[in-house]
Amino acid sequence: MLKKVLLSGLQPSGKPHIGNYFGAMKQFVDLQNEYDSYLFIADYHALHSLQNPMEMRENIIGVVLDYLAIGIDPKKVTLFQQSDISEHTELCWIFDTITTMPYLARAHAYKDALAKDKEVDVGTFNYPILMAADILLYSPDIVPVGADQKQHVEIARDTAQKFNNTFGETFKLPEPFIKDEVAVVPGTDGKKMSKSYGNTIPLFAEYEEIKKCVMGIVTDSSTGIPKNVYAIHNLLRPASELLPIYKEKEGKYRELKELLVEDLEKFIAPLRERRKKFEKNIPLVLEILKNGAEAAKKVASRKMNEVREKIGVKV
Ligand code: ADP
Ligand code: TRP
Repeated sequence: MLKKVLLSGLQPSGKPHIGNYFGAMKQFVDLQNEYDSYLFIADYHALHSLQNPMEMRENIIGVVLDYLAIGIDPKKVTLFQQSDISEHTELCWIFDTITTMPYLARAHAYKDALAKDKEVDVGTFNYPILMAADILLYSPDIVPVGADQKQHVEIARDTAQKFNNTFGETFKLPEPFIKDEVAVVPGTDGKKMSKSYGNTIPLFAEYEEIKKCVMGIVTDSSTGIPKNVYAIHNLLRPASELLPIYKEKEGKYRELKELLVEDLEKFIAPLRERRKKFEKNIPLVLEILKNGAEAAKKVASRKMNEVREKIGVKV
């Protein structure tokens, strides 16, 4: 029986944090045996915020190392760069022609950018349509992401529907796959953990860095249980184990934070060590990307041929 298809992407925008891991990356590992998986590095998506070629190169390799360190098996998963498959940008253009500006103006990412900047780049405005192309080329059944990406997967769904209505059945409608418990992992200040808020715990942090992050968690003194400490701790241990400990140490914030440091170190240390091992083998990373690009190209070009036929440019 054919396996169902999973697809997701990560931008090469810097060090991943435990919010990225629990919200999205862990699902890729957990599901890699069950699904035919496509994971790609969304380098063209990152270009609107990362315009430094050295950093771009380093980060792209970094994402592969991150994936390998968390246990992605490149024999099971097609791991590739978005920029290697020109069909992504080609299909994006075709989708642009069936998408209206008022529709895209409702996207959260654009509205957020507009609130910060006076002049938003066209790439940021069009971001969800490139993402729709990323997704729809591979006909995935599920797209595992954190809650902040839900609207983008819905836009991909709408775009598929619009294309199918205009040109005939071509694209499968994708579903976001969001685990409720980790849909929004909170940061050290209680807000959503995000690179842009400076409230993260890096996934491959060294011990001292973990300590610094945890000691900086904002504690709320209105109850005996420090909410923000508990929320992060609960990613690592179930409530049945944690609640008795938090009850026993009620009000002892420092001790609870020290315990969290130790639990985080136990969880992070093996990942950190694995990443260091892979860092010594960059040729392996390049080989994985080359093989991944070849495999992805086959699927994407087949779909693109179908699209060209449907829209009538194949004469
Ligand atoms: P950031 O906000 O830190 O820049 P990204 O936009 O690079 O994170 O997100 C990469 C993936 O991790 C996406 O699937 C996103 O939904 C998920 N993710 C990011 N932050 C969180 C979080 N705090 N909780 C759950 N998932 C998250
Ligand atoms: N926009 C996603 C993020 O910022 C990355 C991404 C790009 C993606 N294309 C995708 C995720 C397709 C899932 C599917 O995290």
